[in-house]
Amino acid sequence: MTTSRGGGVRASVLEAVGSTPLVALDRLAAGTGCRIVLKTEHLNPGGSHKARIALNMVLAAEREGVLVRGSGQTIVEPTGGNTGMGIAMAGAVLGYRVVLVIPDNYSKDKQRVLAAMGAEILLSDSSTGNNSHGELANRLVLENPTWVLLNQGANPNNPDAHRNATALEILDDLDGEPVDHMVAGIGTGGHITGVGEILRKEMPDLRVHGVQPEGCDLFAGTFRRHRVQGLSVGYVPPVLNRDVVDDMITVGESEAVECMKLLMRTEGIAAGPSTGANIAAALRLARSLDGPATILTFAYDGAHDYLDLLSDPTDAVVS
Ligand SMILES: Cc1ncc(COP(=O)(O)O)c(C=O)c1O
Repeated sequence: MTTSRGGGVRASVLEAVGSTPLVALDRLAAGTGCRIVLKTEHLNPGGSHKARIALNMVLAAEREGVLVRGSGQTIVEPTGGNTGMGIAMAGAVLGYRVVLVIPDNYSKDKQRVLAAMGAEILLSDSSTGNNSHGELANRLVLENPTWVLLNQGANPNNPDAHRNATALEILDDLDGEPVDHMVAGIGTGGHITGVGEILRKEMPDLRVHGVQPEGCDLFAGTFRRHRVQGLSVGYVPPVLNRDVVDDMITVGESEAVECMKLLMRTEGIAAGPSTGANIAAALRLARSLDGPATILTFAYDGAHDYLDLLSDPTDAVVS
């Protein structure tokens, strides 16, 4: 058994981002005839795959001279909280002021941690649409022209983080084992684009399925309010490469939450509702296929930010 990921003492937590394990979900997939493998991105420092893109965007802005390390410059970003966590981490370590714009119906627990990490939080009115935070962030930049907007939905360094690292780690860990299907939620489209493009180059027959909550139809531009934080954020993001997505699988909100719990019970992996949506979609796909196949999917963030979706343990009577 491996006891360490190696790599020696890191200069900061930023150097611990990435290299997340790929885990077989054999108990969950039992009886489907398929193998489901999970890229455990919730194990990143900062708690999600978005730490990768936050760091990559900040480092690229430094290389371009837009940000100067230690300057205390203000970075502003619309975020559900996960990209914000990565930016807050980078801000704390590299010396930036961080202002995050978050929809008012998103996880309060995450907001508490972000504030403790030194980020300033502004809440947008989610009743005005799924992209209320993007619209408020754009207004703030117009009012404060020296603030730097990283703009994850349009920043090429978002999918690049996944092309240059996440995808290569997956290929490395697969060690030649082919993947037939990839199942991935779409928020900014950063990881489905970056990983999908690179994997398809290696495996031309790979089918890539996007995941969206019931009531949303990304490519028809239909969005509604939902509780699967991080998916279908209210616009078709510019970084999304539509050509990489073969089709969309639609998942009910309660199905996503049930599968979030199923993943915990069967595999001991505590991840959030967008991961639950991926699991629901992957299981449905596995059951619909005629023969055996390998399905790759992703865990995005931890269950601990969504405690309101889990039942109160005092409700369960232990005898
Ligand atoms: C919890 C969660 N799940 C899924 C996603 C979707 O990831 P991407 O932006 O790479 O499409 C996000 C994005 O913010 C997220 O925060």
